Amino acid sequence: MQYRTALIGCGRISGKHIEAYIGNSAAMDFRAACDVIPERAGERIGLYRKSGRDTEIPSYTDYKKMLDEVSPEIVTIATESGYHSEIAKECLRRGCHVIVEKPMALSTSDAKDMIAAAKKSGKMLAVCFQNRFNNTVRRVAEAVRGGRLGNILHGSVQVRWNRNNEYYRQAGWRGTWNLDGGALMNQCTHGIDLLQWLMGSPVRRVHGVIRRFQRPIEAEDFGGALLEFDNGAVGMIEGTVNSYPKNLSESLSLFGENGTVVIGGLAVNKIETWRLADSANVGDTEDKVLLDNEADPPTVYGFGHTPLFRDFTDSLDNGAEPLVTGEGGYPALEIILAIYRSMKEGRPVDLPSDFDTLSMKGIFNG
Ligand SMILES: NC(=O)c1ccc[n+]([C@@H]2O[C@H](COP(=O)([O-])OP(=O)(O)OC[C@H]3O[C@@H](n4cnc5c(N)ncnc54)[C@H](O)[C@@H]3O)[C@@H](O)[C@H]2O)c1
Repeated sequence: MQYRTALIGCGRISGKHIEAYIGNSAAMDFRAACDVIPERAGERIGLYRKSGRDTEIPSYTDYKKMLDEVSPEIVTIATESGYHSEIAKECLRRGCHVIVEKPMALSTSDAKDMIAAAKKSGKMLAVCFQNRFNNTVRRVAEAVRGGRLGNILHGSVQVRWNRNNEYYRQAGWRGTWNLDGGALMNQCTHGIDLLQWLMGSPVRRVHGVIRRFQRPIEAEDFGGALLEFDNGAVGMIEGTVNSYPKNLSESLSLFGENGTVVIGGLAVNKIETWRLADSANVGDTEDKVLLDNEADPPTVYGFGHTPLFRDFTDSLDNGAEPLVTGEGGYPALEIILAIYRSMKEGRPVDLPSDFDTLSMKGIFNG
């Protein structure tokens, strides 16, 4: 089936949404774009038309007017993070299915409200954790779900990227507590999602430390945490935007009873270690798996938006759940907010825990 689709928020990441509409044009019929800065919506429509589609696509500066006039069936939201919740709830209330960028919200209560709004309207809500669709990640997820690593004892995620002062100067909302959060909430959120998703047990307790070492922002430019899972396993998180002088890597390591797996590369796009006790039996020796690796993507955003959007429309067609539902996007947010809370209160935080980025205002002021 083809769904009338509209875009809200036409900045940096929205190019990936356009790419995903083009890649899924049999299912997504791009009908309108909205940005409070009109040229930006025009640019995104231009990008779409460059792919050979010459239909007229209107642009809007008021998303509610767009919803009234275009009646989209799917809305994809790529505004600043602090606006996700309000806009998503309005779209759901009006009967649209919603794909929202990560992080889904900046407070647990807003995220819960979004999930409740989707339930109430009977519409689908998904969160853009597109790295779950990387070939490498799928391969590891398959091995984990198939029990090939045995029980996972500990897992670790390292996001060692560079976001320089210029990056923060380009858009005033970045690194603020009311619209963004810092290295953990913005950059590390994908890795934290993968860690909690693959470990196969809910997080019980969070010990966190954050710092604002050098970037000109309100929130953290470094975050470290230790996670205790319900089943006794342990998770470690290291997230920084201070890697000099450019992005270094994003990696995820899983240490199971019967296997060690490391995905690395620029953005969890390369299997670097694949040592599973049963490898020889199933013919996927370490050498073979490493040879299958893909090159680094041109940006850390990778190629996951197109399969994520496809999974969403396939799920609508089949009455199934998408891979990353609202409920599926929630744990990463809850964990990051618990790390913040742990820093603020100077103690470990037990989950479930309700918190929000606004409560962190002033944390580094003395
Ligand atoms: N999935 C990923 O890998 C990934 C990568 C980068 C950014 N993101 C997320 O995407 C979101 C956007 O990030 P960005 O870097 O593209 O930001 P950006 O500042 O480049 O773009 C945001 C756009 O939203 C517009 N906007 C704000 N309020 C609006 C409203 N009410 N109606 C319509 N438009 C509105 C702004 O004018 C701006 O053009 C953030 O939540 C960010 O965390 C996700």
